[in-house]
Amino acid sequence: MLHSALLNVMIKAAQKAGRTLKRDFGEVEQLQVSVKGPGNFVTAADRRAEDVVREELEHARPGYSFLGEECGRCEGTDQTHCWVVDPLDGTLNFLHGIPHFAVSIALERQGSLVAGLVYNPVTDELFVAERGKGAFLNDRRLRVAGRRRLADAVVACALPHPSRGDVLLIRSEHNAVQDRVAGLRRYGAAALDLAWVAAGRFDGYWERGLSPWDMGAGIVLVREAGGFVTDLDGADVTLGSAGIVAGNEAVHRDLLAILGGVRLPSAVAARG
Ligand code: IPD
Ligand code: CA
Ligand code: CA
Repeated sequence: MLHSALLNVMIKAAQKAGRTLKRDFGEVEQLQVSVKGPGNFVTAADRRAEDVVREELEHARPGYSFLGEECGRCEGTDQTHCWVVDPLDGTLNFLHGIPHFAVSIALERQGSLVAGLVYNPVTDELFVAERGKGAFLNDRRLRVAGRRRLADAVVACALPHPSRGDVLLIRSEHNAVQDRVAGLRRYGAAALDLAWVAAGRFDGYWERGLSPWDMGAGIVLVREAGGFVTDLDGADVTLGSAGIVAGNEAVHRDLLAILGGVRLPSAVAARG
């Protein structure tokens, strides 16, 4: 399939990093049985993958700024363009030998997201989208799911670490949504959650507290597949948004309404 020069640059970088991740993932599977476990090895794998993505992107588009999970933000000579990269989204899955993780690359131009790519090197599924040009999984054009009834919907969410301050609120959200949908899922890689909404596998998805690199590429994918994606108040989502809600028009609207009505259990709220 023919892609634009921009997408080709992103695809080349993701596939190269994907090869190193896949090789390292094989090693991680071996390390599961060791007492020390694969922790340090995974940290190194993550950094290696980011170096590969960065080198490739820098070579093809010298001067673009770069925001990566591992290295933070580096201003380039061209500050109108910024790559937003998570070299390994789904780290905990990777660490445990679960083959559900991805490289995520987005491009911001003058503060707007213009392209997104999410690549799972184990399944070789490559999700790409460019503003105004549609979203694709490998060679297939993507559309969000057509299911309109929440009762038929499969919705993805997050299970935050209990140490997080908003864990009780999030548990209340789970209860409220679970009561209304066919199924709730937690797969553990936000970039793939959004890509799967674009592919119509999930009807909806919400999460609080994501970072720009978790959601940049997925936002473009969902929009270009005809889906809706906003913050938790229904306003345009940005890379700084505190939460994200995505889905087709009907599921997105219903999820927003449910989440907007969630309150902390009264005993907890009273404690302050
Ligand atoms: C995490 C995953 C996870 C999401 C977390 C992210 P990481 O990214 O996307 O699904 O719930 O908020 O931090 O750490 O695996 O790159
Ligand atoms: Ca991530
Ligand atoms: Ca990561």
